Order: sequence, then C-alpha cells, then structure tokens
Amino acid sequence: MKKHSIAIFTALAVAAISGQAQAKNDAPEWVSKAVFYQIYPSSFKDSNGDGVGDIQGVIDKLDYIKSIGVNTLWFNPMFSSEFKDGGYDITDFYSIDKRFGTNADFKRLVEEAHKRGLRVCLDLVAGHTSDQNAWFLESKKGPDQRYSDYYIWPDRIPDDVKGKEKDQISGVIGEDSFVKTDSGRSPFYIKNYYDSQPALNYGYANPNPQHAWEQPIDAPGPMAVRREIENIIAFWMDKGADGFRVDMASSVVKNDPGKLASIKVWQDISSWYKAKYPEGVLISEWSNPKESSAAGFNIDFMMHTGKYNFSSLFFNKVGGEFEPQVSYFAKQGKGQIKEWYDLYTEQYNATKGKSYISLPTGNHDIQRLNAGDRNTLDQLKVTMTFFLTMPGTPFIYYGDEIGMKFQTGLWNKEGSQGRATKNRAGSRTPMQWDDSKNAGFSTADYWNLYLPVDKDANRPTVAKEDKDPASLLNYTRQLLTLRKDSPALSADGDWKLVSDVNQPYPMVYLRSSGDDRYLVVLNPSEQPRDVSVAALKVKTAKLVAGDNIQGSYKPGDQSDAIHAGAISAQVYKLD
Ligand code: GLC
Repeated sequence: MKKHSIAIFTALAVAAISGQAQAKNDAPEWVSKAVFYQIYPSSFKDSNGDGVGDIQGVIDKLDYIKSIGVNTLWFNPMFSSEFKDGGYDITDFYSIDKRFGTNADFKRLVEEAHKRGLRVCLDLVAGHTSDQNAWFLESKKGPDQRYSDYYIWPDRIPDDVKGKEKDQISGVIGEDSFVKTDSGRSPFYIKNYYDSQPALNYGYANPNPQHAWEQPIDAPGPMAVRREIENIIAFWMDKGADGFRVDMASSVVKNDPGKLASIKVWQDISSWYKAKYPEGVLISEWSNPKESSAAGFNIDFMMHTGKYNFSSLFFNKVGGEFEPQVSYFAKQGKGQIKEWYDLYTEQYNATKGKSYISLPTGNHDIQRLNAGDRNTLDQLKVTMTFFLTMPGTPFIYYGDEIGMKFQTGLWNKEGSQGRATKNRAGSRTPMQWDDSKNAGFSTADYWNLYLPVDKDANRPTVAKEDKDPASLLNYTRQLLTLRKDSPALSADGDWKLVSDVNQPYPMVYLRSSGDDRYLVVLNPSEQPRDVSVAALKVKTAKLVAGDNIQGSYKPGDQSDAIHAGAISAQVYKLD
C-alpha cells in the first residue's frame, strides 16, 4: 500500500475509534430488539440417532426456542470440517457438513425459523481454514496456483520473533505462530489457533521489506481473500441467513497491535455488506467494542478474551479453570465489581448509540451460568437477572435457560481442550430435553453420543422446567417479556450504576428511557445486605420481577433505602 493511503485510513480509523465518525447506530432496526440464542449444533438435538445433533433436530425444536422469548439464532460453524476444532477448521465454506445435513436442509431451517419470526445467523470463520481445505492444499504446492497467496509462507523464523509467544491481547504473532511443514513450497506457514488452522492471508499492517512473505493488506493475495470472504457471506445471505458472528475478527491482519489495519479491512467488508444486505447483522468476536464498532460491527462481546473481559464478574471457581479471582457472582460475597465496571463503562460510553455490547450467559469456549458452587436455582436466577437486564444484546447459550451444569472431567472432544481454556467440552454437552433416553437428545447408545449427557439424576430438563412456574426457564421467559415491552430495559435504554462501585453487594443500577425507569438490585452473596442510594425521586416502586425477595425499596427525600435478602434479585418499575 502507498504511504498516503496508509495515512488516510489511519486517520479515518482513529476518528472512528475516538467517536468522531459513525455517530449513529447503523444496525438494522430489528437488531435493537434482538435476543440471541446460541446453538452448538453437535449438541442440540439429534434427529437421526447417530449421536450428534443436526439441522432437522433444530427444526424440530424451533417452537421451544421461540417459547423462550428469544428471536435470533446464532449457530457455531455448520460447514464441512475436519472437526479438529469443533468445526472452526473448515474444509469447504460453501457446504453444510454432512453430520448436520445438506445445504437444502439449511434453507429449510431458515424458512421454518422465519415462519416463526426467528432470524438465523451463522459463524464466519474469516481468519483461517482447515489444513485440509482445497485452497490450502493447492497453496502448498507453490506460488503459481489459483490459491497460492491465500496463506502466508515464511521462509524462516526471523530473529526478532524467536523465543516469543503470540501476544494474546495485541495478536502480534510469535514463534508459536510458525508451523513447520514439509510442503516443498516453504518450511513454514502461519497459523491462527491450532497447527491445523493455517491463517488466511489478509496481509501485515507494516510489512517488513526483509520478510518477503509479509504482504501489504491491499496486495493481490489479501484482496483475493477478502473477495472470497464476501463471496461466502453472499452465498449464505442469499440462502436466507440474517447475518454472521465473525470468529477472531480482530486478528485477521498480522502484526497490527493498534488494530488500525484490521479495522480498515472490516470497514471495507462491512460497507460492502451493509450496501448489499442492509437487513443483515454483523457481530464480532473482537472483545473491544470501541474498535469493532469503528470496523462496522453492530455487536461485540465482552467475555473472556483480551483486556475488556468480564472474568472478574462472572467466572466461578471450578476445576482449575476460569478462576482469575473470586468472581462477583459467587455466593461467598467476596468479589468486586470495580474492575469490570471500569472496563465496561469505558466501552459503554464510547459505543452508546453506535453499536451494542453483549455480555453472554456463556458460550462454547467458556463456563456456563451453572458452574462450580454457583449451582442453586436462586444463584442462577440472580445471575440471569443481570444478563437480561443489562443494555446491549443478550445472548443466551443453549441450556443456560434451564441451568444446565458446566461438566468437569471431560476428555478432549474435537479440539475442545483449547489452548488457554482446557475444558471447553464442559459447556458443550447434550441439551437436556426430558427424562427419556439420553435426556431426549438422541436415541443413540451412550458411547456414540457426541459428549456424555449430565448424569445427575436431578439434572434440569426442558420438560420439567416448562411445567414448573418457579423454574429458571420460566423466570427467563418472564424477564424477556419484561425486556421486550420496556424501552428502558431494551438494548438502547440508559444504564447507570447507582450504588457505590466500591461496595459491590448489592449492585444497584437504573435502566431508563424517558419516563420509563427500572431499578435492578442484585445480591449474589449469602449475606443479606443494606444500602442507601441518592434519592431517585420515586413516587411508587413496583416489584415486577425477582427472586428470593426478602428485600425492600424505600424511597426517601435525600436517599432511598434498599434491603436485599441473601442471594436475591429485585427488579422494580419506578414511577
Ligand atoms: C474462536 C472460537 C473458538 C475457536 C477459535 C479458533 O475463539 O470461538 O471456539 O477455537 O476461535 O477458531
């Protein structure tokens, strides 16, 4: 790329990140009301008895999904794959893997979902492919093939990289990103995650002229990769998809610590997308909403990766993982909210009106709501109250709505023992439907199941919880109904912590939009707690949802007094 064009895109990107551009949320209107339900397709519902979930299984359960109150599905990758990383190692981006069905089945899924008012989003694994992908096999042969420049082929490990590991926050590659190969073309290729996942070539932010393999982002190879990505997007959007969650979106361009080049690439792709598919959504796995918003994404996650994570708030001590500290949502009441609050408010203030932050209830890489000793109905309801009353876009991970348990001690299933998070299988076990064989997930024999079903005799199931008015499922439904009907509780409603950030139990926050106001009081700790907050000038406060309510809210002239029972949640409508 020429020097002056670098300067222009740098200026644009900096302006966008600092909030001077993109003043309004340009997501399609429906996104402001979207509530997502994430499906890990191998584990949701098996319709043909082979022990692995499939598209027909999902179609059979669409009425249930709709009944939760969600309105959009996001599927982990369903494309042809070697399954060395749970489907994130794609061999053919243009076909549904046969374990799930066919492309025609996908079209049927979309039709059946749309009939019920449910939208369907897919996973775009933009950064890498399987090492068995035909593009890679061809690229491997030499520099003169159709797909030669789709990948990055260093002829050596440069001295300045030797001994360094990839930086997990900035994404700057290390010696561990170089995979030794006997391809004949070159002794190394660059990978993204596992060795079997060669990185697609989006170029380098600042190519080193001494390193011939480092191409500028607008070189022919990287530009061809971008066209291919647009082609994949168009292929599935034309089959009726409503959008994509983009895997590892922030790290497509190599050695781009400030992310300006990655932002530029996504600005180009997202502008094309928005012009061609104005009703489509783009969600990023970026974990820095300021940056992803500037790149044109409508929604970004705050979860376990990068600096802007929710680990201190959410991750519970279990099995030697996800325990950076005592989490806020642990019953011991020893957590804090300051760390999360500072990170969250920085992002919230910078992206409000531009894009949405999602705090997911869990996902296929992290622990579930029900993890470790956060396992009672009350604890789960308190935590769920938080996730469904925050601004931005809720994402419910399949099974979290019934409180499925994060399973410990599982083996490595299709790459589930991830690089940083070792037990991803614990969150990928079969959905628990009813009391029939394998909890209704599959008619297959136990040993043929994708992963074992929770063996607890009292495991939660959809059938049980559907009938029980006090269940987590029905509580989730109640919260989503409340959210749907309230501008204050919606994705766009204002959010303000009204309790003292340094006295975290209970956490009290106000959601508001004009005259519509709600107050949320959360006490995940085992101790009852009292707090007073500056007067909110309330005439009446009506309790509209909550759990374990031995609490109260007493408005006063100067201050309002709040009592929160042990492990409790209270949601008040204020007038
Ligand atoms: C994302 C996915 C994760 C996968 C990785 C590599 O982080 O969520 O499951 O292993 O990318 O594709």
